[in-house]
Amino acid sequence: MESTKRDRDRDRDRQLTMRRPRILHYVAITAVSLLALAGLLVLVFWLVVRPSLLRCSVDKAHLQGFNITNNALSATFNLTLDLHNPNRKVVAHYDRVEVAVWYDGQMLALNEVAPFYQPRRDVRMLKVDLLARSMPLLSSVATSLKQDRSAGEAAVEVRMRAMVRFKVGLLKTDHYTLRAYCSPVLVRFSSPATQFQKVYCDVYI
Ligand SMILES: *[C@@H]1O[C@H](CO)[C@@H](O)[C@H](O)[C@H]1NC(C)=O
Ligand SMILES: *[C@@H]1O[C@H](CO)[C@@H](O)[C@H](O)[C@H]1NC(C)=O
Repeated sequence: MESTKRDRDRDRDRQLTMRRPRILHYVAITAVSLLALAGLLVLVFWLVVRPSLLRCSVDKAHLQGFNITNNALSATFNLTLDLHNPNRKVVAHYDRVEVAVWYDGQMLALNEVAPFYQPRRDVRMLKVDLLARSMPLLSSVATSLKQDRSAGEAAVEVRMRAMVRFKVGLLKTDHYTLRAYCSPVLVRFSSPATQFQKVYCDVYI
């Protein structure tokens, strides 16, 4: 009698120790399968959508009414930007778009562009006029701009910042901050601008 009870206990113990690893085994297999499935879905989504980065370039830059008096700048920068959405499946919504002209670490002029939406595989031309109205300049900036005027042209940097949302089918993303840095953009002081060299921007998101 004693020995049978001990045997039963031993059997139960053995069953327990055998059952626990088996449960862990199933949990592990399920977790790995779920991970693999999720990975596969992401891969399929990626292959179907093939998202690629938006592209940006400065196609024209025109400077007029340049005047520095008492280290204050008045000028108008007429810019033409090209925005390219190369994606076949991704639509982009530009919600807040700011374009600025920088020189030597100082911002010379800034303007906003009205929100817009860019369909798939679309190239959009953005014309932006940026006005500096008696913009106070650092004296070093005023000095080098005056030197540039004698030389005939100045190398400025055009920066764009936008809040962008993406849409793929019914999926919509949150806002991302898109930043584009375009440099050097050569603007000429004499009116009839010769062939402008298109400048491709570095785009970060
Ligand atoms: C340049 O700006 C100053 C002050 O804003 C103004 O008095 C002057 O007439 C301007 N010069 C030209 C050539 O526009
Ligand atoms: C540049 O912008 C100003 C201000 O918007 C505008 O009056 C002028 O016609 C523009 N010039 C060119 C060449 O686009």
